Amino acid sequence: MKKTASKRDLLTLFDLTPNELLKILSRAAYYKKQRKQKKLSAYLKGKNVALVFEKPSTRTKVSFDVAVNELGGHSVSLQSDSSQLGRGETYEDTAKVLSRYVQGIVIRTFGQEGLEELAQASSIPVINALSDFCHPCQVLADLLTIQEHKDKKLQTTVSYIGDGNNMTNTWIMAALMLGFPLKVATPQGYEAQVDEIKKYAAKFPAYQKNWKNITLSHDPEDGVKDVSVVNTDTWFSMGQEVSDEKRKLFEPFQLNASLMKKAKKDAIVLHCLPAHRGEEVTDDVLDGPQSRIWDEAENRLHVQKAVLEFLVRK
Ligand code: CP
Ligand code: NVA
Repeated sequence: MKKTASKRDLLTLFDLTPNELLKILSRAAYYKKQRKQKKLSAYLKGKNVALVFEKPSTRTKVSFDVAVNELGGHSVSLQSDSSQLGRGETYEDTAKVLSRYVQGIVIRTFGQEGLEELAQASSIPVINALSDFCHPCQVLADLLTIQEHKDKKLQTTVSYIGDGNNMTNTWIMAALMLGFPLKVATPQGYEAQVDEIKKYAAKFPAYQKNWKNITLSHDPEDGVKDVSVVNTDTWFSMGQEVSDEKRKLFEPFQLNASLMKKAKKDAIVLHCLPAHRGEEVTDDVLDGPQSRIWDEAENRLHVQKAVLEFLVRK
């Protein structure tokens, strides 16, 4: 794949054009096929990538690490509690230093502003491995899973039920870019950050027409009615306070067999994981025949490779 500028970042999905997003998915599908045939491409030979994590991670960290290594590159891991970031060194200073050592930075962090500050001061690509605002690499893997199991053209109706969080925001951004119908149902007071998304989307006149395909409600049953893909995520994202009061309010949004009956019979279930079994989703749904969560988790690896190829390969 060709890049259009000398250094590009992936801080939100909007850093890609819809066409680039689709190309990344198609490259990810290629990498998946290639790995099954035990073939690897050394596109990152001689490249080093820093994996900076300020929050816990299993899937994102391991999949990026393996992706870099299988592409022939080398990864360097930093955890905030064992690096100077955790002692208050600024994102700007960190970015300037890492840019002298490595050819790409993958970072999981809190605020989007910190991520933007880091990217601004870096002369190398920065990839968002989850922020409080969005989780672009996860939704890319989810879209690949939908292509594999439901709709190659990505025009089917997707639903997101539960807490309005980084995943919800990213789904809305994906729907704006690709135009598929999206139904979001969150409890009152826990909506997605629509105003913030609108600020980012303001730069893209072509996306505005797609707001009409996005339904935001507080009704879980209507949220899953007749959809082909049902998504949920934790009620308590990393860094958020856990409370019984919130848990009680969210009960009607639990993805269980009864809620699943409202979706299309052959709807698939996605969850970015980690799941809190018995909370936002029940075991029978997560482990049931409609669940595609393990393929979704595997797809993280193939998508990370495609993202690294697009941004870090020169
Ligand atoms: N889905 C996801 O990002 O998982 P991790 O927190 O384990 O990376
Ligand atoms: N919304 C979750 C996603 C975890 C992958 C969180 O931010 O903790």
